[in-house]
Amino acid sequence: MRNFEFYNPVRVCFGKGEIAKLSKLIPKGANILLTYGGGSIKKNGVYDQVTAALKDFKVIEFSGIEANPHYETLMKGVALCKEHKIDFLLAVGGGSVLDGTKFIAAAALWEGSDPWEILSRRSEVHVEKALPIGTVLTLPATGSEMNGNSVVTRWETHDKLAFDSEHVMSVFSVLDPEVVFSLPQIQIANGIVDAFIHVMEQYLTFPVNAPIQDRFAESILITLIQEGHKVLADRTDYDTAANFMWAATMALNGLIGAGVPQDWATHTIGHELTAFHGIDHGQTLCIVLPGIMKLKRENKKEKILQYGERVWKIIEGTDDERIDATIQKTVEFFESVGIKTKLADYGVGSETIQKIVDRFEKRGVKAIGERGDITPRDVARILELQLK
Ligand code: NZQ
Ligand code: ZN
Repeated sequence: MRNFEFYNPVRVCFGKGEIAKLSKLIPKGANILLTYGGGSIKKNGVYDQVTAALKDFKVIEFSGIEANPHYETLMKGVALCKEHKIDFLLAVGGGSVLDGTKFIAAAALWEGSDPWEILSRRSEVHVEKALPIGTVLTLPATGSEMNGNSVVTRWETHDKLAFDSEHVMSVFSVLDPEVVFSLPQIQIANGIVDAFIHVMEQYLTFPVNAPIQDRFAESILITLIQEGHKVLADRTDYDTAANFMWAATMALNGLIGAGVPQDWATHTIGHELTAFHGIDHGQTLCIVLPGIMKLKRENKKEKILQYGERVWKIIEGTDDERIDATIQKTVEFFESVGIKTKLADYGVGSETIQKIVDRFEKRGVKAIGERGDITPRDVARILELQLK
């Protein structure tokens, strides 16, 4: 196992009715910016629960944070923070609202010339401070509620970039599984596959003798497969919703990634498909991962075989046959939750592949993946494998 430092200070308040605790979780006298998205929280009762809990606080609302949050929108939130001397941010929504709020929290205290550099110069500049954040999660998927990551899109240039900092990890996150009851089927499916692929990014690499991380990872994958199908069949079953929600949080809160190699090529390539074509985040991952498994089948051989055996019970045949069967099972799983895995399914053709390669080259991306050997040329190969 590799050396690691594991730090996760997020207080998780999990379960039915926990939103009412907001009044105790937020510091007394705080000037709150309440951030949310396009209005789903007003239809499912979450907004009413939140505002009831905040009745004794001074609250400014900032709504309209879109899916794949836009830098241009978020900068309006930054201006509100300054104008109203906001000292606490409460994000109520899915990964987009949470990520967008993390960016607002960091940008509000940013001392550099332009907050965009938090994203565009990620490897050179670091977020050293941010306004404190609390969250009420309404969509199990990203793990944003218990990690320090944020992904933001600059609409003007169609750049979708990420940053991470422990300073934007929330002070607390309220996870009430009842939010799942109002989710559209496609968002549930996106959440299942996003969480599944977060695990794969941290697991499907090469072995470093880390059985505890491997077994945790496999248990999250198996739980997502079993509970995923159940939650799609009946999203109003509380226990199933709870299991799905906790699995998604555990998939990306630092625990399974500690001390092991990590890939993240699927996400890096997937973000470009969202940036250019607006394809949902989860869907992009289901296009890219099978391509990576095919191209990198030798590099990832031991872990693909282990994953095939322990998650899908594939034990018959030669190594090559088992790898083929494992890739096939993975694709069938994505399709079984209703997510297509080919570029053609989303109306995307080969012209996009060159645009993505050009962009990686322009950004100076030499190679990605756990071994740092997926070059822009390989990115093209991966996407070519997934054309139709
Ligand atoms: O905007 P509203 O009206 O709230 O509607 C949202 C949105 O349209 C709706 N929704 C959310 N909760 C709902 C609901 N509708 C009904 N009932 C509810 N309870 O769902 C739609 C999608 O929401 P969004 O927040 O965009 O989805 P998700 O949670 O999948 O977040 C995706 C974003 O997170 C980033 C992605 O790149 C993408 O920008 N990610 C963040 C990560 C992180 N911070 O660690 C990691 C991920 O890999 C990912 O990159
Ligand atoms: Zn993801």
